[in-house]
Amino acid sequence: MPKWLEDAVFYEIYPQSFYDANGDGIGDFEGIIQKLDYIKDLGCNALWLNPCFDSPFKDAGYDVRNYKKTAARYGTNEDLKRLFVEAHKRGIHVLLDLVPGHTSEEHAWFVESKKETPNEYWNRYIWTNDWISWGVEGVRFIAGEAPRNGSYIINFFKSQPALNYGFLNPKDSWQLPVNHPDAIATREAMKDVMRFWLDAGADGFRVDMADSLVKFDDAQKAGTSALWRNIRAMLDTEYPEAALVSEWSNPPLSLKAGFHMDFLLDHPGSGYRSLVRDYQLDGSLRPFNDNSFFKQDGRGDIRRFLDQYLGFYEKTQNDGYISLITGNHDSGRISGNLSNRELALAYALFFTLPGVPFLYYGDEIGMRYLYLPTKEGGYARTGSRTPMQWGKGKNLGFSGADGSTLYLPVDPSPDAPTVEAQQKNTGSLLNTVKALLKLRHDEPDLQSKPNLEIIFAEHEKLPFVYRRGVFVLAVNPSGSATETSVSFEGRPVYTIGECFLEKGKCRMGQQSFGVWRV
Ligand code: NOJ
Repeated sequence: MPKWLEDAVFYEIYPQSFYDANGDGIGDFEGIIQKLDYIKDLGCNALWLNPCFDSPFKDAGYDVRNYKKTAARYGTNEDLKRLFVEAHKRGIHVLLDLVPGHTSEEHAWFVESKKETPNEYWNRYIWTNDWISWGVEGVRFIAGEAPRNGSYIINFFKSQPALNYGFLNPKDSWQLPVNHPDAIATREAMKDVMRFWLDAGADGFRVDMADSLVKFDDAQKAGTSALWRNIRAMLDTEYPEAALVSEWSNPPLSLKAGFHMDFLLDHPGSGYRSLVRDYQLDGSLRPFNDNSFFKQDGRGDIRRFLDQYLGFYEKTQNDGYISLITGNHDSGRISGNLSNRELALAYALFFTLPGVPFLYYGDEIGMRYLYLPTKEGGYARTGSRTPMQWGKGKNLGFSGADGSTLYLPVDPSPDAPTVEAQQKNTGSLLNTVKALLKLRHDEPDLQSKPNLEIIFAEHEKLPFVYRRGVFVLAVNPSGSATETSVSFEGRPVYTIGECFLEKGKCRMGQQSFGVWRV
């Protein structure tokens, strides 16, 4: 386990939208370099960059055309290496986004694979021997697109043919077993990509759709897990400080498969979702009946989160970390249904639980979701990918380009939150995030390690009280004061709102959060 994860706090950057240093309307590596001091000052000491490789951008870069070449719009490979160097100078680690499940249909491997005559890449993708155009057991086929007499499987969009790591239990002659030399060659090709970027200075990878590799896998993902354990063994030997975080959302499986961290994502029915947006939509996209934990109306229930989270946490304490996210490039902005005070309390919990937290760019100032037409396969996700709002003035400081040529428009509202305004305001969300992250970095008991004890967490009752090492923490998101009996006295080290831990009581004013040394 890389030691640096013990105190890592990640910042996710969607590179298109962070900072445009060369004035062409889209973010770039140089822009990220120029903002590294901001990220460091915020309290984030690690980055996850969404895919920044050569791509036709039919899925915002998750359709990779060349794994070893950066997309020209962000800069050259040399620029990315300079970003690694500049980040490392500031104690910041950098994870790239590895997309092992599929490539772009324009990738050279696929161009070869679709040819009529067999060649080295014929089995790099999953081809049937004939025409199949209907889905089977969750896999989808594309037919009629290639000179080759077959159909191929896609992993996500039509433009993303699935790479071939074999089938756990092949049922047909076109389904290779996982130990077929061509399935193994795909795995080795992906290791080669990883070595390429680790040698260039990257510190690891966020792995896209990490659970999707072996087809017709079993419920325990035996095939895909064995594959990742093989890759992890390579890392442990050759790059022991490199970190892997999975998009899998099942820590008991993913961490045993060799990942160091796994995201808890905003999937419907997930415990994470009950914290921040536990709502149904009416036909007009308006939320109703929002029972998420951080809502001030106090109808949330911490058990809906904990029952899932603790189940995962207890099974995985020795295997790796759970990663809570403020949001990501696929989810709605967390500010969509939470006020700034509700957000502050949400971040207070995220940044004081065990595991390795991830902050999505702009969430530190409460950037808002914008209703926009789809861009680069974003669909409804597009509205969470708008340019970072640095300050007042042209394009809110994102770019010197003409506003009409920006990758996506900036938030046009007169009260759009900005870094500049919030830096000046001591009580701002930005400064709350800074204070919380400073506290976390100052106190080893509040970092990644699994030292969580639940003190009070009852169905439909508040507050939620927990302990980590020498600290007791409590949160009351509701608009009413509440209290519970405890057996601690404590000295406050950080509070939001009014709250006390004394005389056998944890007394929490409305919308409050406290950390006490006991
Ligand atoms: C998950 C990524 O987060 C998402 O943005 C992408 O569209 C799909 N995987 C396909 O790669």
